[in-house]
Amino acid sequence: MNKTITRRRFVGLSVATGATVLAGGKILGSLSAPGTATNPVFKIGGDLEVNRLGFGAMRLTGEGIWGWPPDRANAVKVLKRAVELGVNLIDTADAYGPETDELLIAEALHPYPKGLVIATKGGNTRPGPGQWVPNGHPDYLKQAVDKSLKRLQLERIDLYQLHRVDPKVPMEESLGALKEMQSAGKIRHVGLSEVSTSEIERARKVLPIVSIQNRYNINDRKWEKELDYCEKENLGFLPWFPVGGGRGVKSTTLDAVAKTHNASVYQVALAWLLQRSPVMVPIPGTSNVQHLEDNVAAAKLKLTPEEWKSLAA
Ligand SMILES: NC(=O)c1ccc[n+]([C@@H]2O[C@H](COP(=O)([O-])OP(=O)(O)OC[C@H]3O[C@@H](n4cnc5c(N)ncnc54)[C@H](OP(=O)(O)O)[C@@H]3O)[C@@H](O)[C@H]2O)c1
Repeated sequence: MNKTITRRRFVGLSVATGATVLAGGKILGSLSAPGTATNPVFKIGGDLEVNRLGFGAMRLTGEGIWGWPPDRANAVKVLKRAVELGVNLIDTADAYGPETDELLIAEALHPYPKGLVIATKGGNTRPGPGQWVPNGHPDYLKQAVDKSLKRLQLERIDLYQLHRVDPKVPMEESLGALKEMQSAGKIRHVGLSEVSTSEIERARKVLPIVSIQNRYNINDRKWEKELDYCEKENLGFLPWFPVGGGRGVKSTTLDAVAKTHNASVYQVALAWLLQRSPVMVPIPGTSNVQHLEDNVAAAKLKLTPEEWKSLAA
């Protein structure tokens, strides 16, 4: 376990605002006061209980999210360590590598431990390193689901996310294909990525949507409205770039709060996210075992209401 975290001062967060927060979910139709979420778990789709600090596997590929990682044994080690540390939600996509990320997850973790949720995505193609082109054609998506099942060695994918809405294809058609795969028992739950509230509402007319994966972190809160929508509707919110992607997260307040807790800015940024909302399920990515351990330890870091607010300002 990370030394900075074990030495740091634990400050319990008092839920003085009267917001009702339940483990694994919340009362529908209400918003908790931001900064007060303390539930350690969230139930995706009401039945898939996961610890709220997940793992994003995208970084376990080569440069430009392309090909195999330079050190494949290390990538396997990171995945195994994540599970050892109690992570039971791993996010991936057929586009990471492409294909190598899903193959690596199966190589490291199959047969999967009970309760491990692998969330994958489809609907983004990869013409080359660093290039991403959406494809939401129903036939393409259906074969993408079948291929992910095969690579991941699964009978059913617990959470299948539409990676991008393809502007060339009506969303209803893309989601219709996923609905068919769900009816065939190949997908348990469906999620969306990088979508607005109006797109979420449109999608929910086609089939039940259980989670949203939009870019969000302490420095980048473009999707605040969508996060509030998720909280109100009890949809999981899986922020990507939770610690700022390759650029990291930065502010003088972050530095100061990190110093107080003898923690890293990454840990404070994750603790801040977790307290932001009971439906928040961050999926930080790393290819480094020490960073992984630090990130998982951040789930125990409690910020005071004053610290949380000063960071939000
Ligand atoms: N839906 C989408 O469109 C979409 C887009 C992008 C990503 N994602 C998903 O979201 C996940 C998270 O996004 P991300 O991995 O791009 O960004 P991220 O988690 O915000 O940041 C990852 C970067 O931060 C570094 N890092 C992580 N923890 C650290 C720590 N404790 N100390 C120092 N450096 C640290 C990593 O480097 P090291 O490897 O050196 O630790 C890596 O460069 C991805 O893995 C993927 O599953 C989804």
